[in-house]
Amino acid sequence: MVTDFFIEAEDIIKIYSDNRTDVRIGALRSVELRIKKGTLVSIIGPSGAGKSTLLRLIGGLDTVSSGHLKVGDTLLSSPNISTGELTVYKKTIGFLWQFPDKNLLPKLTAEEQIEFPMHPYGYSRECRKRRVLELLTAVGLKDRATHQPSQLSGGEAQRLGIAIALANNPSLVLMDEPTGELDTKNTLMIINYLKELNEQFGTTMIVVTHDHRFARMTPLTYTIKNGQISAVDRIIEETHSSEDRLEREILSYVDKYGNVRIPDDLRQELGIHQLVRFTINRDDPKRPRLEIHPVND
Ligand SMILES: Nc1ncnc2c1ncn2[C@@H]1O[C@H](COP(=O)(O)OP(=O)(O)O)[C@@H](O)[C@H]1O
Ligand SMILES: [Mg+2]
Repeated sequence: MVTDFFIEAEDIIKIYSDNRTDVRIGALRSVELRIKKGTLVSIIGPSGAGKSTLLRLIGGLDTVSSGHLKVGDTLLSSPNISTGELTVYKKTIGFLWQFPDKNLLPKLTAEEQIEFPMHPYGYSRECRKRRVLELLTAVGLKDRATHQPSQLSGGEAQRLGIAIALANNPSLVLMDEPTGELDTKNTLMIINYLKELNEQFGTTMIVVTHDHRFARMTPLTYTIKNGQISAVDRIIEETHSSEDRLEREILSYVDKYGNVRIPDDLRQELGIHQLVRFTINRDDPKRPRLEIHPVND
């Protein structure tokens, strides 16, 4: 199947097994994702839902138990993928973690930190300096260029982390709860910077969060619960009239077995429990619709 998706995940299953206790934990169950290049995506869900697991799989830091996972030209779910191919793949990705000390080197200044990951790539000094300045400006830290991490606030440190993650022009940036340690003001600031950077550099970005404000601000949001994608929420591009009034729609994936996940709020509202009845509505013969009716007897 030819698609224009940059990230394709089909029926991803991840099971962690503990050899000592023989306990197996199903962290992801039949996860489906399709993400186009250049999209800013959020993945939202409660603690333990499987968000970090999914991000680690996409980042090539762990392997799927089964299913199809492809990012760009790299088939991450292939059992034959070599360590060399994975190493090359990981270099095309920028990571940002929840705690600034995992993203930053304590002894280097802000500008040195952004420049550091560029060294192995043979950029000229002038090119590196230009990129550092561009990124410092893009995350609003131009006047913090010579500060060390201990001299930065939590929000500034995470913005620096974003700049570092973008230093090598990655094709994908993965962020795991980047605002988990921040207050509301700094969280909103980070969301806005991410939106701007996404527009400015066209980098595909995935932000894992449990903060619902991301859901309203990213064009595409996946909700994950109990290891499954329970809903996909996206902006309807064709109909929006102004920035503040973007219309959104909530979608569900139909997996290859024909299973559809009905979002919790709709199930509750309609009293859908175990059985549903399907009917086809042919009021518009050109666009027949499937209707799902609760069955409670
Ligand atoms: N390395 C691991 N070994 C065993 N179980 C794990 C491991 N990592 C995560 N889990 C389990 O998998 C589930 C999903 O975890 P995780 O992806 O970290 O969730 P989230 O990031 O949404 O909080 C949880 O039940 C967690 O305990
Ligand atoms: Mg997590």
